[in-house]
Amino acid sequence: MWDVFSDAAFKRRMPMIIVTGGAGFIGSNFVREWLAAEQDSVVNLDKLTYAGNLRSLVDVEKNPRYRFVQGDIGDRPLLAKLLRETRPRAIVNFAAESHVDRSIHSAGEFIQTNIVSTFNLLEEVRAYHAELSPAEREAFRFLHVSTDEVYGSLGPNDPAFAESHKYEPNSPYSASKAASDHLVRAYHHTYHLPVLTTNCSNNYGPYHFPEKLIPLMILNALAGKRLPVYGDGQNVRDWLYVTDHCTAIRMVLAKGRVGETYNVGGRNERTNLDVVNVICKLLDELKPRADGKSYAAQIEFVADRPGHDQRYAIDATRLETELGWQAAENFDTGIRKTVQWYLANQDWVQSVTSGEYRNWVQTQYENRAVA
Ligand code: NAD
Ligand code: DAU
Repeated sequence: MWDVFSDAAFKRRMPMIIVTGGAGFIGSNFVREWLAAEQDSVVNLDKLTYAGNLRSLVDVEKNPRYRFVQGDIGDRPLLAKLLRETRPRAIVNFAAESHVDRSIHSAGEFIQTNIVSTFNLLEEVRAYHAELSPAEREAFRFLHVSTDEVYGSLGPNDPAFAESHKYEPNSPYSASKAASDHLVRAYHHTYHLPVLTTNCSNNYGPYHFPEKLIPLMILNALAGKRLPVYGDGQNVRDWLYVTDHCTAIRMVLAKGRVGETYNVGGRNERTNLDVVNVICKLLDELKPRADGKSYAAQIEFVADRPGHDQRYAIDATRLETELGWQAAENFDTGIRKTVQWYLANQDWVQSVTSGEYRNWVQTQYENRAVA
């Protein structure tokens, strides 16, 4: 791995953006898509927590427009140096603790990273922004990647979340993301930092860490383990293929109104049980069980997630009408691609399902009661 700070040729590359959390699920897809579609160079600043994996970026690691820096978005001396030496025209902030179940189990890291470290990042970016020339200041953007979970939970007949929906976060994760959204908003209102915020629904696709529903179900099915559906499986999520989220972020960065928030979602509402059944059907077709039975036989209803939000749904009208964004994948095309990707990338799976992952699976599922 190159050292950005001693790499004079790379530092001269302009324009440049910094992506934080680029070794995670969405961030790694974003970095890959960005390098293919845009001209700017990219510095990926990632702490490499359990969720960050450089194996997700092996295909771009030799790209001359890409560099990785291991570090924390809360490390202010590092940020000050990185910003001054690379002079980015934009920051895209993915870095966060992202798993709801982990936040229920232990919220401390969520408060630290999603709130305190985001504050530290905003402070350093504010100082850097103030030093730019008027033209650079005008062009600069800080894009904060957030979630639909800040809006709380919908009833079955409620309209989908619009940007005007009030914030009603229900888990330590969503409360910490809501706090970070408020900080980002305040830095625009108070200090005129040119910010943009995106609030997206559930993503799925390649490089998704297998603690989350879709990859967990694919891998458990293949391993002959139970498929643990929380409660009655009737909770609804609005699924978006990850590259559609990445395209939306690029559009908001390019054309979004400063200070505005944009909801991102694919209008693909499904119950969890439906999602798990679709995965089982695809696996029955693509990798049938040796005994000829359906993978659906492995489904087991287990104790519900405490405070489990019933339904999320996104109204993406602003993004569609103002910026012309459309999702390229629907759930049927996206989930097929996803299952095929996991079947074809068992080496990546092996590399992320090591010690820490096994500890989590044991803590979360081993003694979980059957519902
Ligand atoms: P992820 O958990 O897969 O990845 C998070 C990345 O951030 C990891 O690479 C991790 O190492 C890094 N990171 C964590 N703390 C850090 C710190 N203090 N400094 C630097 N890097 C740090 O998460 P994801 O699913 O890719 O989500 C990315 C962002 O998108 C998050 O902010 C999340 O809230 C948001 N989001 C996710 C979804 C989804 O469905 N996954 C939907 C909407 C919004
Ligand atoms: O809505 C956006 C959010 O989507 C993001 O902000 C989060 O970072 C992301 O993790 C995701 O949160 P969810 O809690 O919706 O995702 P998860 O994959 O953990 O769970 C999806 C649904 O499946 C949820 O209703 C809980 C259920 N579930 C999950 C797991 C891991 C199960 O039934 N069994 C499981 O084992």
